[in-house]
Amino acid sequence: MGPATITPLDGSDEAISAWVAVQRACRLADAPDTALPSAARVRGDLEHPWPGTRIDQWAARLAGRTIGVLTIGMRLTDNTDVTVIRELRVHPDHRRRGIGTLLWRHAIAQSRATGRYRLLVETTRTIDCEVEPGELFVTRMGAKRVTRETGRRLAVDQLDDADLRRRLADAEAASTDYSLLQWVGGTPADHVDGMAMLAARMTTDVPLDDLDWEPEAWDAERVQARDAVMAARGNRSYTTAARHDPTGELAGYTVLDFLAGNDEYGWQQDTLVLPAHRGRRLGLRLKVENLSHVRSHEPNLRFVDTRNADANDHMIAINEALGFRPVKRHSEWELTIEEAS
Ligand SMILES: CC(C)(COP(=O)(O)OP(=O)(O)OC[C@H]1O[C@@H](n2cnc3c(N)ncnc32)[C@H](O)[C@@H]1OP(=O)(O)O)[C@@H](O)C(=O)NCCC(=O)NCCS
Repeated sequence: MGPATITPLDGSDEAISAWVAVQRACRLADAPDTALPSAARVRGDLEHPWPGTRIDQWAARLAGRTIGVLTIGMRLTDNTDVTVIRELRVHPDHRRRGIGTLLWRHAIAQSRATGRYRLLVETTRTIDCEVEPGELFVTRMGAKRVTRETGRRLAVDQLDDADLRRRLADAEAASTDYSLLQWVGGTPADHVDGMAMLAARMTTDVPLDDLDWEPEAWDAERVQARDAVMAARGNRSYTTAARHDPTGELAGYTVLDFLAGNDEYGWQQDTLVLPAHRGRRLGLRLKVENLSHVRSHEPNLRFVDTRNADANDHMIAINEALGFRPVKRHSEWELTIEEAS
């Protein structure tokens, strides 16, 4: 049969559907209760990388069949010493035969070739799982854990709307100097600068545990480039922002996204309230209003997933109040790559 080889994903329909078949087999074996992978997402990474990021995709092949996948991301404008393994999966029928190690070594070689000497990778396990192959694998590869997060899920059919209305009324009473703005998709021109400032704060204000992550540079151009990539990928996003009426400045925001081809699972992305505006229940008000905003456009929504650093007490308290419950543990791991091989 010969040894497995690693080749770049070539973008043909055949190569992409073989790639998605591996993702789907892994998803069914490892995490069946999440949105199924789709060709649109793989094509998105190939054709529409996020601004300031290079994305490379590699397939492990054996006897003409794709049996493993590797996606790596390299930042071009900040954190340029880091390679992020966005995805490393081996088909369940081919595990424990060194394919994962082969892909891992390939990521290291690619990283070295571009002068990057830190490798970051994430693992996920369900809340009640004691032993997780991904964690055992990355530990065996020599990586050290740098963050611990808990993933929480909201079941939309369990929402207590009367309770949410009460909480919202309290939050509105505590934040009378603020009005909310909402939009679907790209950022309205009037708010691009404000959103760039908030997006930059999002990379410095959230707890990062032991992860060394340089602040990201965000400006109006990058916000618009990100919005264009979201649209080109066919993703949908819903935003609610809070404006401080006396100054007209944006004080906080929250975003919920859907990947192309999926309308049942929403992803709660960034939520931020600037320090000067905290303590007025804006976080809860933003989230409750954004959830209503999303539900009015996405009637098939069943679950919303979110994740928080275990140290992020305030955000966790808001999520628990809304009805999010722990379902997963996520960890980020780091490997320092030796400069000589
Ligand atoms: C994690 C994963 C990539 C490993 O792929 P693989 O091809 O089985 O990995 P390898 O055969 O190269 O394993 C290398 C070592 O990792 C450890 N390991 C991997 N899977 C393990 C498991 N299920 N139980 C215990 N140890 C395991 C072992 O030490 C193994 O060496 P050994 O087989 O000689 O004992 C695969 O299980 C997978 O796709 N999981 C789902 C996706 C995921 O969790 N990715 C992690 C992010 S990198």
